[in-house]
Amino acid sequence: MKIIYWSGTGNTEAMANLIAKGISNNGKEAEVLSVDKVKIDDIKNENILILGCPSMGAEMLEEGEFEPFIQELENFGQGKKALLFGSYGWGDGQWMRDWEERMFSYGSQIYSDCVIANYEPDEDKKEECIELGKKISR
Ligand SMILES: Cc1cc2nc3c(=O)[nH]c(=O)nc-3n(C[C@H](O)[C@H](O)[C@H](O)COP(=O)(O)O)c2cc1C
Repeated sequence: MKIIYWSGTGNTEAMANLIAKGISNNGKEAEVLSVDKVKIDDIKNENILILGCPSMGAEMLEEGEFEPFIQELENFGQGKKALLFGSYGWGDGQWMRDWEERMFSYGSQIYSDCVIANYEPDEDKKEECIELGKKISR
C-alpha cells in the first residue's frame, strides 16, 4: 500500500510512518512516499488512497506540490477509498473538512476516521495512526 504525503516540519511525515507501521504489523507492505517522488500514474491502480498533508496557507493544502497532485486526482478518484490525514496548528481542522468534501466530489469514498493531529502527534494520536493502518490493511 502506498502512503503519499507532504510535510514541512515532519509532523505529517511522522503520521505517515505510523500508519505504515500499522499496515506492516498486519503483514502487508507499506511504502511511504513524499509527494514530490510520486506521479499520478503510480497510484492509478490503488484501491485505497492514503494521503497526508498539513493545513497550510489559510486552511489550504500545501500549494507547491500537494495541491497540484490532488488536482490530478479529480480524474482518478472515482470508486476509490480515501484515507486522509495531516497535522494542523491554530485552526479547527477546516482544511480537512474541505479536503474530505473535495475527495467526495471526485467520487471517492472517505473513511470516517481520517486522522488529524495538533502539531506533533501525541501518544493517543500515534496509537490512532497505527490502528488506522491496521484497519485499512485487513
Ligand atoms: C505557512 C504555514 C501556514 C499554516 N497555516 C495553517 C492554517 O491555516 N491552519 C492551521 O491550523 N495550521 C496552519 N499551519 C500550521 C501547520 O499546519 C502545523 O505547523 C503542522 O504541524 C505542520 O505539519 P508538518 O510538520 O507536517 O509540516 C501553518 C503552517 C505554516 C508553516
